[in-house]
Amino acid sequence: TDNIRTELHDVIIIGSGIAGVYTALEIPEKYDVAILTKETIEISNSVLAQGGIAVSLDKGDSPELHFKDTIYAGAGLCDEKSVWVLVNEAASNIEALCEFGVNFDRKSQNELSLSREAAHSKNRIIHAGDTTGKEVCDKLISVVRTRENVKIKERVAAIDLITENNVCKGVLTYDEDSSSYVLYRANVVVCATGGFGQLYSNTTNPEVATGDGVGLAYRAGAELMDMEFIQFHPTVLFHPDNKSFLISEAVRGEGAILRNINGERFMPKYHELNELAPRDIVSRSIFHEMKKTNSTHVYLDITFKDKEYLEQRFPNIYRTCLSYGIDISKDYIPVAPAEHYCMGGIRTDVFGRTNIKGFYACGEVACNGIHGANRLASNSLLEGLVFGHKIGTEVENIIEDYPKEPQKISIKAHSNRVLKDIDVNQIKKDIQETMTQYVGIVREREGLEKAKKKIEEYCDLIKDMKNINVRDFETQNIVLISRLVIEAALERNESRGAHFRLDHQKTDDENWKRNIIKRKF
Ligand code: SIN
Repeated sequence: TDNIRTELHDVIIIGSGIAGVYTALEIPEKYDVAILTKETIEISNSVLAQGGIAVSLDKGDSPELHFKDTIYAGAGLCDEKSVWVLVNEAASNIEALCEFGVNFDRKSQNELSLSREAAHSKNRIIHAGDTTGKEVCDKLISVVRTRENVKIKERVAAIDLITENNVCKGVLTYDEDSSSYVLYRANVVVCATGGFGQLYSNTTNPEVATGDGVGLAYRAGAELMDMEFIQFHPTVLFHPDNKSFLISEAVRGEGAILRNINGERFMPKYHELNELAPRDIVSRSIFHEMKKTNSTHVYLDITFKDKEYLEQRFPNIYRTCLSYGIDISKDYIPVAPAEHYCMGGIRTDVFGRTNIKGFYACGEVACNGIHGANRLASNSLLEGLVFGHKIGTEVENIIEDYPKEPQKISIKAHSNRVLKDIDVNQIKKDIQETMTQYVGIVREREGLEKAKKKIEEYCDLIKDMKNINVRDFETQNIVLISRLVIEAALERNESRGAHFRLDHQKTDDENWKRNIIKRKF
């Protein structure tokens, strides 16, 4: 380990989505910050976000109502303290975004335009057309590039957290350009790596979403929470050439109707809020309807709006669908649910602190209880902002606590680095199919047990794996995290929010109104 190149910084941020970049901007400029990103800085889940950001700005709206809607969607598992922070600090962080130059759509010069999404009782979604994530990320990235205290390290994959006596000391990384390990030393490490949609065959997430942050946190002894709660977005394009393009919930917010393969509207049978019921309910209803009609998809119908309006309000969706021969002003859009968001992750408090000193988590990778068992639409970009700000202001306390020159440390990496070669693409594909079939929208003990058995075989196999590139490390994380999701899903003998058990269909508040926490011993 002595010949590993080492870099020293005050703060390391892993991940370049909204949580990572905004946190970097919120850290006082006197500190030296490095952002590590596995691909290039522009690639993240946040960039793909369409609908927008929830914030109570309307006259009849308030943080209290936003709180109520978030708690309702969370199905009894939200942490109220965290949710209050989210809703109360939303507006000030949106103001900061506007100051950074983010252009949201406006009703007038002084008023942002607000749209509706599922399970929100008010119009409170601010947006930039249907490419809100891109507008926010592009602006934040352009600002962070001007910050002299922030260095951007691309094609650097975080492999393991380095700790000593439960105190964070840095991150061991693999630098793809030089094909070598690099040790990033810092007393503060912020994990903002996003979720793990790549555990599933169909996901709205990009290829990079392999849960590396959750993996390294777990291996280092960090607590994980709510791993069984995986959100499936109800309306993802279902086309032979594209099963990952999101058809934003905002389209239903504008009145779009779901129809089964026979053209019949079905949501009124399932929930009084129809197409705007909470996301887990809409996804399950679609799943049920697909089963009943023996089909692979349903339709989303927005044909009653005219072409000009749709082109202007949803330019990206309009254009993308058209490129697949679907004119959304005339044709029904074929859609099916796909994995979209992980409610669970690294357990933190409202300051982003984990149980490892100096190790923070923010955004989708974190779990501070704001989403409970089911995230409310458009609360996720908001989460990255509000808690990124919290971390940005909190790190000072911890940095000032430490000696300036850290002592020498010994590196004990947790990921395996031995023996034989294995076909990682095949493992990944097999896990994705297993997770989709048995650990998806609907689960039951028998299927979960089957999935567990299969994953355990892979756990044994990768013990002997030789890591030669980033895909190998990702595969280890996918195997590990699948196991943790399955274990939690097996443990929770009830249905709640996004976790639906065919063999335990009732919500069991008496025994299960509590979180499942996982930690390596
Ligand atoms: C969407 O535009 O439907 C995504 C919103 C979200 O996931 O919060």
